[in-house]
Amino acid sequence: MNIKELTNKYIMNTYGRFDLALVKGDGVTLFDENGKSYIDFASGIAVNSLGYNNKAINSSIIEQLGKLIHVSNYFYTGPQALLAEKLCKNSFAGKVFFCNSGAESIEGAIKLARIFAKKFSKRGYKIISMQNSFHGRTFGALSATGQEKYHNGFEPLLGGFTYVKFNDLTDIENLVKDREYCAVIVEPVQGEGGVNIADRGYLKRLRDLTVKNDILLIFDEVQVGLGRTGKLFAYMNFDVEPDIMTLAKPLAGGLPIGAVLAKDEAARAFEPGNHASTFGGGPLVLSAANAFFDEITKDGFLDDVLKKGDYTCIKLNDLKAQFPKLIKEVRTIGLISAIEFYDLKAKDIAVKLIEKGFLTTAVQDRVLRLTPPLIIKKDEIDLFMGKAAEVLNDYKIITK
Ligand SMILES: Cc1ncc(COP(=O)(O)O)c(C=O)c1O
Repeated sequence: MNIKELTNKYIMNTYGRFDLALVKGDGVTLFDENGKSYIDFASGIAVNSLGYNNKAINSSIIEQLGKLIHVSNYFYTGPQALLAEKLCKNSFAGKVFFCNSGAESIEGAIKLARIFAKKFSKRGYKIISMQNSFHGRTFGALSATGQEKYHNGFEPLLGGFTYVKFNDLTDIENLVKDREYCAVIVEPVQGEGGVNIADRGYLKRLRDLTVKNDILLIFDEVQVGLGRTGKLFAYMNFDVEPDIMTLAKPLAGGLPIGAVLAKDEAARAFEPGNHASTFGGGPLVLSAANAFFDEITKDGFLDDVLKKGDYTCIKLNDLKAQFPKLIKEVRTIGLISAIEFYDLKAKDIAVKLIEKGFLTTAVQDRVLRLTPPLIIKKDEIDLFMGKAAEVLNDYKIITK
């Protein structure tokens, strides 16, 4: 049996996969089992921000392999301490907790918010979350997720979540006054929800409301943190600092990781025994994460991401102008973008783009998401736009 047949026979049927088996990557290019190459505008869903076969990531892993892969968190380890310092010195945070995935970071954030409320703010356990949000698949994260399609069949969920409209304060203004609520969780840019970018005024006002009512503000930056938006953290685009922030995806250069960052004031609610993870913060993964963090904080790296983001924005608007009947809207912040179609199924477009040698992801029914590695070059962006125009041209002819 080949890779696809084995997968379909032995792996649980939870993923709608593209008909493509990938075996190797280098830079922004991936190769399938037949040696065909693809330029990556997906990055393993915003994970491979430095692309593939990155020297700094590889060397950090190889060097650490010979020293220590894992010890428990009953002991101190260097890579964990070093990255925690870097994350704190470069953000609003005073303390970090390491875990292994985005969903796990959300679980940590929820637990921290609840125990903070119990110990200090004396508020209830409920949390305000956003409609159309996505926070992960474990029960806490799933419950925080404001999309019914992910809940169906798994009820009862964790109680206490109220979903309000994203980018709209109408309901929140009253809810935050209710002492049953201890936190608001929001993605500054909803990734899975369709690349919906929060308004600066909305986040600022939300911050004011949460401060005034002594309620914690949690930003989920699992998808858009760590350079994706052209700033080190997405919140920096909005001049608003949260109390707690979750990170994951790209942080360890492709190895599994999650992190909960918090202000000292909030983090003090955790004490030994409250929360833990066997693998969280392990030396091998954290060595890769240190290498990743050092790369993206090098002089000029993020400025370059911003420039390429601006360039993508111009090019996507050109594409929209070329296909006004097919493309409803384009949205870009840094190197995460959406092409929203009127009627076309984003998955169909993604399949056509694969045939032309480009990988993208479809979110929601009609939104094609672009999250290329942050090392993508302008000429590769041009190549993508050319192929996207070819694909859409076929539909233009059909719909005429
Ligand atoms: C904003 C956000 N939060 C949380 C998650 C869950 O992360 P993971 O799949 O690593 O559990 C995701 C995954 O896409 C995400 O985009």
